[in-house]
Amino acid sequence: MMARRWPLAFGLLAGLAALYLGLSGGGDAAAQWGRAARWTARIGLPIFLLTYLASSLGRLWPGAFTRSIWQARRWWGLGFAACHTVHLYALVQAVQASSEVRTIGSLIPGGTAYLVMYLMALTSNDAAMRAMGRNWKRLHSFGIHYIWLIFTLAYAKRLADPLTRPEAIYGVTLCLLALGLRLAAWRSGRKSA
Ligand code: HEM
Repeated sequence: MMARRWPLAFGLLAGLAALYLGLSGGGDAAAQWGRAARWTARIGLPIFLLTYLASSLGRLWPGAFTRSIWQARRWWGLGFAACHTVHLYALVQAVQASSEVRTIGSLIPGGTAYLVMYLMALTSNDAAMRAMGRNWKRLHSFGIHYIWLIFTLAYAKRLADPLTRPEAIYGVTLCLLALGLRLAAWRSGRKSA
């Protein structure tokens, strides 16, 4: 059991490393915190996608490696929550340091994603699973797709600007590949059912 928990430490350390690297580059506070916010989200995406894909990878390519990811899925999810908590810290600093005005409306989609992410993290244990019954599955299915959507939209809106296009291509490609794998796993499950 202990051995399976390492993705939680990994997620936290990855987020802190991205924060440190973002802050150690040049520029004023707004540039440094903006970079820290971008890099913490950028490293969080593959950790999130591992959680998003854990069961699909196991279905498509059964084996010891994919089984170990599937069995540690809860810990990968918690690792993502830890990493994205560092993004939350960096983005609060970035918003304060920048002169850009943010409307409450622009904070709702991302804020909802954080609410859902923390509800999922708090209920990622056997006791909550038993207590919530079918609502556990509802919350976690909705949450995983909603967070995927926010990542996809965050990167899709960066496609238009040539300056942010490289990271937008990175993010949109990873998100769409992951969706494709989930659909492939779902179809193969239906065929064998
Ligand atoms: C209200 C909540 C949120 C706010 C205010 C916020 C704010 C920010 C800020 C200030 C940046 C840096 C922007 C820049 O300098 O270009 C950023 C980047 C980013 N955020 Fe967040 N964020 C929020 C929630 C989220 C959530 C929930 C996700 C994903 C599920 C997310 C994904 C991203 C991505 C993908 C980037 C760009 C990363 C890159 O450049 O590779 N954000 N966000």
